[in-house]
Amino acid sequence: MIIAKDIGALRQAVRDLRAAGTLALVPTMGALHEGHLTLIREARRHADAVAASIFVNPRQFGPNEDLDAYPRQLAEDQRMLEGEGVALLWAPPVDQVYPAGFATSIAVSGVSEGFCGASRPGHFDGVATVVCKLFNQIQPDVALFGEKDWQQLAVIRRMARDLDLTLPHADAIIGVPTVREADGLAMSSRNRYLTPEQRQAAVTLPRAMRAAIAAIAEGADFAAALAELRQTLVEGGFASVDYADIADADSLQPASTPGENALRLLVAARIGGTRLIDNMPVG
Ligand code: PAF
Repeated sequence: MIIAKDIGALRQAVRDLRAAGTLALVPTMGALHEGHLTLIREARRHADAVAASIFVNPRQFGPNEDLDAYPRQLAEDQRMLEGEGVALLWAPPVDQVYPAGFATSIAVSGVSEGFCGASRPGHFDGVATVVCKLFNQIQPDVALFGEKDWQQLAVIRRMARDLDLTLPHADAIIGVPTVREADGLAMSSRNRYLTPEQRQAAVTLPRAMRAAIAAIAEGADFAAALAELRQTLVEGGFASVDYADIADADSLQPASTPGENALRLLVAARIGGTRLIDNMPVG
Protein backbone atom coordinates (compact mmCIF):
# COMPACT_ATOMS: atom_id res chain seq x y z
CA MET A 1 0.00 0.00 0.00
CA ILE A 2 1.34 3.42 -0.96
CA ILE A 3 0.97 5.95 1.86
CA ALA A 4 0.87 9.54 0.61
CA LYS A 5 1.18 12.38 3.10
CA ASP A 6 1.77 15.27 0.72
CA ILE A 7 -0.01 16.34 -2.43
CA GLY A 8 2.99 15.64 -4.72
CA ALA A 9 3.21 12.00 -3.60
CA LEU A 10 -0.56 11.68 -3.89
CA ARG A 11 -0.68 12.98 -7.46
CA GLN A 12 2.12 10.61 -8.55
CA ALA A 13 0.40 7.59 -6.96
CA VAL A 14 -2.96 8.55 -8.48
CA ARG A 15 -1.38 8.93 -11.94
CA ASP A 16 0.15 5.45 -11.69
CA LEU A 17 -3.03 3.80 -10.42
CA ARG A 18 -5.26 5.50 -12.97
CA ALA A 19 -2.91 4.46 -15.79
CA ALA A 20 -3.35 0.85 -14.65
CA GLY A 21 -7.17 0.81 -14.34
CA THR A 22 -10.20 2.20 -12.54
CA LEU A 23 -10.04 3.65 -9.06
CA ALA A 24 -12.54 3.70 -6.16
CA LEU A 25 -12.30 6.12 -3.23
CA VAL A 26 -13.42 5.51 0.34
CA PRO A 27 -13.09 8.77 2.31
CA THR A 28 -12.83 8.33 6.10
CA MET A 29 -11.77 10.15 9.24
CA GLY A 30 -9.98 7.03 10.51
CA ALA A 31 -10.73 5.13 13.76
CA LEU A 32 -11.77 2.40 11.38
CA HIS A 33 -14.29 -0.29 12.25
CA GLU A 34 -16.18 -3.04 10.44
CA GLY A 35 -18.45 -0.45 8.79
CA HIS A 36 -15.45 1.14 7.03
CA LEU A 37 -14.05 -2.26 6.05
CA THR A 38 -17.40 -3.11 4.48
CA LEU A 39 -17.06 0.05 2.36
CA ILE A 40 -13.57 -1.03 1.27
CA ARG A 41 -14.75 -4.54 0.36
CA GLU A 42 -17.66 -3.10 -1.61
CA ALA A 43 -15.28 -0.63 -3.32
CA ARG A 44 -13.16 -3.53 -4.57
CA ARG A 45 -16.18 -4.83 -6.47
CA HIS A 46 -16.49 -1.54 -8.34
CA ALA A 47 -12.92 -0.74 -9.44
CA ASP A 48 -9.51 -2.23 -10.15
CA ALA A 49 -7.90 -0.46 -7.20
CA VAL A 50 -9.10 1.20 -4.00
CA ALA A 51 -7.81 4.41 -2.45
CA ALA A 52 -8.79 5.36 1.10
CA SER A 53 -8.30 8.68 2.82
CA ILE A 54 -7.91 9.32 6.53
CA PHE A 55 -8.32 12.95 7.47
CA VAL A 56 -10.04 14.32 10.58
CA ASN A 57 -11.46 17.35 8.85
CA PRO A 58 -11.45 20.35 11.23
CA ARG A 59 -13.91 22.26 9.03
CA GLN A 60 -16.76 19.89 9.76
CA PHE A 61 -16.51 20.22 13.55
CA GLY A 62 -18.23 23.07 15.41
CA PRO A 63 -16.37 25.07 18.10
CA ASN A 64 -17.84 22.97 20.95
CA GLU A 65 -17.57 19.61 19.22
CA ASP A 66 -15.16 16.68 19.63
CA LEU A 67 -12.38 17.60 17.13
CA ASP A 68 -9.57 17.22 19.69
CA ALA A 69 -11.08 14.12 21.30
CA TYR A 70 -11.91 12.43 17.98
CA PRO A 71 -10.11 9.04 18.04
CA ARG A 72 -6.88 8.90 16.03
CA GLN A 73 -5.08 5.55 15.47
CA LEU A 74 -3.22 5.85 12.20
CA ALA A 75 -0.86 2.86 12.66
CA GLU A 76 -3.74 0.50 13.44
CA ASP A 77 -5.90 1.92 10.62
CA GLN A 78 -2.98 1.46 8.22
CA ARG A 79 -2.70 -2.22 9.15
CA MET A 80 -6.43 -2.73 8.64
CA LEU A 81 -6.39 -1.08 5.20
CA GLU A 82 -3.34 -3.08 4.15
CA GLY A 83 -5.18 -6.25 5.22
CA GLU A 84 -8.07 -5.29 2.92
CA GLY A 85 -5.78 -4.83 -0.11
CA VAL A 86 -6.11 -1.03 -0.33
CA ALA A 87 -3.65 0.30 -2.93
CA LEU A 88 -3.30 3.90 -1.75
CA LEU A 89 -3.80 5.65 1.58
CA TRP A 90 -4.01 9.45 1.53
CA ALA A 91 -3.32 10.62 5.09
CA PRO A 92 -2.41 14.31 4.85
CA PRO A 93 -1.62 16.72 7.67
CA VAL A 94 -4.05 19.64 7.98
CA ASP A 95 -1.81 22.12 6.12
CA GLN A 96 -1.74 19.91 3.01
CA VAL A 97 -5.52 20.14 2.78
CA TYR A 98 -5.96 23.70 4.02
CA PRO A 99 -2.76 25.64 3.21
CA ALA A 100 -2.31 29.12 4.66
CA GLY A 101 -4.78 31.51 3.05
CA PHE A 102 -7.35 28.82 2.21
CA ALA A 103 -10.56 30.78 1.59
CA THR A 104 -13.04 28.57 -0.26
CA SER A 105 -16.14 26.88 1.09
CA ILE A 106 -18.87 24.88 -0.62
CA ALA A 107 -22.39 25.33 0.72
CA VAL A 108 -25.14 23.02 -0.54
CA SER A 109 -28.49 24.58 0.32
CA GLY A 110 -31.73 22.61 0.78
CA VAL A 111 -30.65 19.08 1.69
CA SER A 112 -28.00 20.31 4.10
CA GLU A 113 -30.27 22.65 6.04
CA GLY A 114 -32.45 20.47 8.31
CA PHE A 115 -31.56 17.59 10.61
CA CYS A 116 -27.80 17.57 11.38
CA GLY A 117 -27.43 20.78 9.38
CA ALA A 118 -29.72 22.57 11.84
CA SER A 119 -28.08 21.21 14.99
CA ARG A 120 -24.49 21.42 13.61
CA PRO A 121 -24.26 24.76 11.75
CA GLY A 122 -21.48 24.71 9.12
CA HIS A 123 -20.97 20.96 9.39
CA PHE A 124 -22.07 20.14 5.85
CA ASP A 125 -20.13 23.06 4.35
CA GLY A 126 -17.05 21.45 5.88
CA VAL A 127 -18.00 18.01 4.57
CA ALA A 128 -18.81 19.25 1.04
CA THR A 129 -15.61 21.30 0.85
CA VAL A 130 -13.31 18.46 1.91
CA VAL A 131 -15.10 15.83 -0.18
CA CYS A 132 -14.94 18.06 -3.27
CA LYS A 133 -11.21 18.48 -2.65
CA LEU A 134 -10.77 14.72 -2.26
CA PHE A 135 -12.64 14.12 -5.52
CA ASN A 136 -10.42 16.64 -7.33
CA GLN A 137 -7.22 15.28 -5.80
CA ILE A 138 -7.93 11.60 -6.47
CA GLN A 139 -10.41 11.73 -9.38
CA PRO A 140 -11.95 8.37 -8.49
CA ASP A 141 -14.28 6.61 -10.92
CA VAL A 142 -16.55 5.76 -7.97
CA ALA A 143 -16.71 6.88 -4.34
CA LEU A 144 -18.37 5.00 -1.50
CA PHE A 145 -20.03 6.37 1.64
CA GLY A 146 -21.98 4.70 4.44
CA GLU A 147 -25.75 5.15 4.48
CA LYS A 148 -25.48 5.70 8.23
CA ASP A 149 -24.74 9.34 7.35
CA TRP A 150 -27.80 9.54 5.12
CA GLN A 151 -27.93 13.32 4.96
CA GLN A 152 -24.20 13.50 4.17
CA LEU A 153 -24.76 11.15 1.24
CA ALA A 154 -27.63 13.34 -0.04
CA VAL A 155 -25.46 16.47 0.27
CA ILE A 156 -22.55 14.88 -1.60
CA ARG A 157 -24.78 13.60 -4.41
CA ARG A 158 -26.39 17.05 -4.74
CA MET A 159 -22.97 18.70 -4.87
CA ALA A 160 -21.73 16.26 -7.53
CA ARG A 161 -24.80 17.00 -9.68
CA ASP A 162 -24.71 20.76 -9.17
CA LEU A 163 -20.98 21.14 -9.84
CA ASP A 164 -21.00 18.74 -12.84
CA LEU A 165 -18.41 16.58 -11.18
CA THR A 166 -17.41 13.93 -13.67
CA LEU A 167 -15.07 11.86 -11.53
CA PRO A 168 -17.00 10.57 -9.76
CA HIS A 169 -20.29 11.66 -11.37
CA ALA A 170 -23.37 11.77 -9.12
CA ASP A 171 -24.54 8.24 -10.02
CA ALA A 172 -21.08 6.89 -9.23
CA ILE A 173 -21.45 7.95 -5.60
CA ILE A 174 -22.44 4.70 -3.96
CA GLY A 175 -24.24 4.42 -0.63
CA VAL A 176 -23.52 1.27 1.36
CA PRO A 177 -26.09 0.02 3.92
CA THR A 178 -25.32 0.66 7.58
CA VAL A 179 -23.34 -2.05 9.35
CA ARG A 180 -24.76 -2.85 12.79
CA GLU A 181 -23.54 -4.52 15.97
CA ALA A 182 -25.22 -7.85 16.85
CA ASP A 183 -27.81 -6.00 18.99
CA GLY A 184 -28.68 -3.55 16.19
CA LEU A 185 -26.70 -0.44 17.18
CA ALA A 186 -25.24 1.22 14.07
CA MET A 187 -21.43 1.03 14.03
CA SER A 188 -19.75 4.39 14.56
CA SER A 189 -16.30 5.59 15.59
CA ARG A 190 -18.08 7.59 18.30
CA ASN A 191 -19.55 4.43 19.95
CA ARG A 192 -16.21 4.09 21.74
CA TYR A 193 -17.07 7.19 23.80
CA LEU A 194 -19.91 5.26 25.48
CA THR A 195 -19.52 3.83 28.99
CA PRO A 196 -20.66 0.18 29.33
CA GLU A 197 -23.98 1.40 30.81
CA GLN A 198 -24.50 3.92 28.01
CA ARG A 199 -23.59 1.30 25.42
CA GLN A 200 -26.27 -0.98 26.84
CA ALA A 201 -28.84 1.83 26.79
CA ALA A 202 -27.84 2.93 23.27
CA VAL A 203 -29.56 -0.10 21.75
CA THR A 204 -32.86 1.61 22.60
CA LEU A 205 -32.21 3.80 19.54
CA PRO A 206 -32.50 1.17 16.77
CA ARG A 207 -35.18 -0.71 18.73
CA ALA A 208 -37.37 2.36 19.16
CA MET A 209 -36.86 3.25 15.50
CA ARG A 210 -37.96 -0.21 14.39
CA ALA A 211 -40.99 0.01 16.70
CA ALA A 212 -41.99 3.38 15.18
CA ILE A 213 -41.66 2.00 11.64
CA ALA A 214 -43.72 -1.07 12.60
CA ALA A 215 -46.41 1.14 14.16
CA ILE A 216 -46.59 3.24 10.96
CA ALA A 217 -46.86 0.05 8.87
CA GLU A 218 -49.87 -0.85 11.00
CA GLY A 219 -51.50 2.51 10.38
CA ALA A 220 -50.24 4.77 13.19
CA ASP A 221 -49.90 8.40 12.14
CA PHE A 222 -46.38 9.76 11.82
CA ALA A 223 -46.68 12.34 14.60
CA ALA A 224 -47.91 9.80 17.16
CA ALA A 225 -45.24 7.23 16.23
CA LEU A 226 -42.50 9.88 16.45
CA ALA A 227 -43.74 11.18 19.82
CA GLU A 228 -43.66 7.61 21.16
CA LEU A 229 -40.13 7.17 19.75
CA ARG A 230 -38.88 10.33 21.47
CA GLN A 231 -40.42 9.29 24.78
CA THR A 232 -38.92 5.78 24.55
CA LEU A 233 -35.45 7.26 23.97
CA VAL A 234 -35.65 9.58 26.97
CA GLU A 235 -37.06 6.83 29.20
CA GLY A 236 -34.34 4.50 27.89
CA GLY A 237 -31.49 6.75 29.12
CA PHE A 238 -30.97 9.29 26.32
CA ALA A 239 -30.39 12.81 27.65
CA SER A 240 -32.07 14.55 24.69
CA VAL A 241 -33.33 14.03 21.16
CA ASP A 242 -31.95 16.50 18.57
CA TYR A 243 -34.44 15.28 15.99
CA ALA A 244 -36.63 12.28 15.19
CA ASP A 245 -38.41 12.89 11.90
CA ILE A 246 -39.56 11.30 8.69
CA ALA A 247 -38.52 12.83 5.38
CA ASP A 248 -38.44 12.21 1.65
CA ALA A 249 -35.42 9.92 1.23
CA ASP A 250 -33.85 12.04 -1.55
CA SER A 251 -34.84 15.66 -0.96
CA LEU A 252 -35.04 15.30 2.84
CA GLN A 253 -38.18 17.43 2.81
CA PRO A 254 -40.24 16.57 5.92
CA ALA A 255 -43.15 14.16 5.35
CA SER A 256 -46.15 13.84 7.64
CA THR A 257 -48.10 11.17 5.74
CA PRO A 258 -47.20 8.26 3.44
CA GLY A 259 -46.89 9.16 -0.25
CA GLU A 260 -45.41 7.85 -3.47
CA ASN A 261 -41.78 8.67 -2.72
CA ALA A 262 -39.47 6.59 -0.56
CA LEU A 263 -39.34 7.88 3.02
CA ARG A 264 -36.65 7.73 5.67
CA LEU A 265 -36.79 7.95 9.45
CA LEU A 266 -33.82 10.00 10.71
CA VAL A 267 -32.86 10.36 14.37
CA ALA A 268 -30.09 12.09 16.33
CA ALA A 269 -30.05 11.74 20.11
CA ARG A 270 -27.56 12.33 22.89
CA ILE A 271 -26.55 9.81 25.50
CA GLY A 272 -24.17 11.24 28.09
CA GLY A 273 -21.91 13.52 26.05
CA THR A 274 -22.20 11.42 22.88
CA ARG A 275 -24.44 12.24 19.96
CA LEU A 276 -25.63 9.17 18.03
CA ILE A 277 -27.37 9.24 14.65
CA ASP A 278 -29.25 6.56 12.78
CA ASN A 279 -31.73 6.26 9.90
CA MET A 280 -33.96 3.55 8.44
CA PRO A 281 -36.37 3.22 5.52
CA VAL A 282 -40.05 3.70 6.28
CA GLY A 283 -42.35 1.32 4.43
O1 PAF B 1 -18.15 10.38 6.98
C1 PAF B 1 -17.00 10.78 7.26
O2 PAF B 1 -16.16 10.06 7.83
C2 PAF B 1 -16.61 12.20 6.88
O3 PAF B 1 -17.68 13.07 7.01
C3 PAF B 1 -15.97 12.31 5.48
C4 PAF B 1 -16.96 11.92 4.40
C5 PAF B 1 -14.74 11.43 5.40
C6 PAF B 1 -15.57 13.76 5.21
O4 PAF B 1 -14.64 14.22 6.13
